Amino acid sequence: MSSDLTVIVLAAGGGTRMRSKRSKLLHEIGGRSLVGHVLSAVRTLDPARVVAVVGHQRDQVGPHIVSLMPEAVLAVQEEQQGTGHAVRIAVDAAGSLSGTVLVVYGDTPLLRGDSLRDFAQEHEGAQSAVSVLSGVVDNPFGYGRIVRNDEGDVEAIVEERDATPEQREIREIGSGIFAFDGEFLADVLPRLGNDNAKGEYYLTDTVGLAREAGLTVGAFPMDDVVQTEGANDRVQLANLGRELNRRIVEDWMRAGVTVLDPATTWVESDVRLAPDVILLPGTQLLGATVVDEDAVIGPDTTLKDCEIGAGARVVRSHGELAVVGEGANVGPFAYLRPGTELGMGGKIGAFVETKNAHIAAGAKVPHLSYVGDADIGEGANIGAGTIFANYDGTDKHHTSVGKGAKTGANNTFVAPVRIGEGAVTGGGTVVRRDVPPGTLAVSGGPQRNLSRRATRARERTPIGEAASAEGES
Ligand code: UD1
Ligand code: CA
Repeated sequence: MSSDLTVIVLAAGGGTRMRSKRSKLLHEIGGRSLVGHVLSAVRTLDPARVVAVVGHQRDQVGPHIVSLMPEAVLAVQEEQQGTGHAVRIAVDAAGSLSGTVLVVYGDTPLLRGDSLRDFAQEHEGAQSAVSVLSGVVDNPFGYGRIVRNDEGDVEAIVEERDATPEQREIREIGSGIFAFDGEFLADVLPRLGNDNAKGEYYLTDTVGLAREAGLTVGAFPMDDVVQTEGANDRVQLANLGRELNRRIVEDWMRAGVTVLDPATTWVESDVRLAPDVILLPGTQLLGATVVDEDAVIGPDTTLKDCEIGAGARVVRSHGELAVVGEGANVGPFAYLRPGTELGMGGKIGAFVETKNAHIAAGAKVPHLSYVGDADIGEGANIGAGTIFANYDGTDKHHTSVGKGAKTGANNTFVAPVRIGEGAVTGGGTVVRRDVPPGTLAVSGGPQRNLSRRATRARERTPIGEAASAEGES
């Protein structure tokens, strides 16, 4: 492929059918915006320059594109006068063009880099002035039709509104994706007219103009036409999102990941999975989540930007920006908030919420606890129902629990506080002062059992009668 490649991304259109305050191009599937997917595909071609044409909602779209691809040049199309007009603005912004110019739309999230590469290579191999990526579809309504002559050579692209009834029968459509010889493009753009049904400058007219000039034109039908489909409303957005997910999940299965129920398993584009990972039904792996081999995730688990170690298990849980060590256990019903780090073989059990919590190798928080702003040492065990009270109403404070400590059930650790290595706390202890290593901390007065107080208060109630019957026997 030409080393002098320019890619023009058309991103000026409105998205009225989305009915959204957000630009259509910023709507997401698979954890990336629509235009983000297109830019990812474009990046794989390593183009010499990328020009994005922005217009509608460009205060949103422009910065978003620049954040994803800082080297992209933005060209502003104030008024939408057609695809030919948009490309002309891009070419003006790019300066002189030689090499190959690819034109893509910003809203086709399934488009793959290797498809663009194959297309550009075919275009260059045929030494065409212009090539269009086409597709044969059952319902061509609304698309530009590829008009071929008796020899099968492409003569023109005719838009739906400008087509004759016979032309409307043609099922080969133009995807809107073009490859141009740069010099031809620079030469033909000023010659485009707008004498058509929409009164717009059509990029598609470049095909007919090339033919009239006796230049080579190509149309390369693509089998996988969904790659060129745009999302115009939220129904299409969901359909493309499901199809993207189907493809991603299938790729992971081919790479050695077991997925019990692909239909309820959602894996975003940037997730990385090792072979022999097992994903159970209802699992969502989002953002930059990484899962190492033999880990089992799910059922019904959502992990965003998490790192899960080899052989770990995460059952019916929700995590974000958390690290789970090798062979560790999480859940069911755990909530791992940002900054959670669970060491090798550790446990965060049922109904446990953690935040900014470093739980060392082999340490366990098995039941019904909140662990915030804490370090828990190796092999320590936190009793059921323990609250790390990290917030005094103004500031957050830290708690540390030493190696091998064993704290009783229903404790409250009022931070800042330190529980030393090997220390023990009694059930129900409210720890307000540091517990030195190896000591036992208890708080609260001794228990007193006051005779008949309970029954007296409950006389003439069934409980009272039961209690006094108990007392008589
Ligand atoms: C276009 C093609 C048609 C093709 C179809 C595929 C033309 C004239 N027609 O039709 O052959 O089958 O796409 O989907 O090119 N845009 C701008 N500025 C403009 C006009 C459009 O940036 O002034 C962008 C839009 O945001 C959109 C894309 O170009 O992403 C296509 O524009 P649209 O008006 O939707 O063209 P179609 O009528 O769908
Ligand atoms: Ca369109």
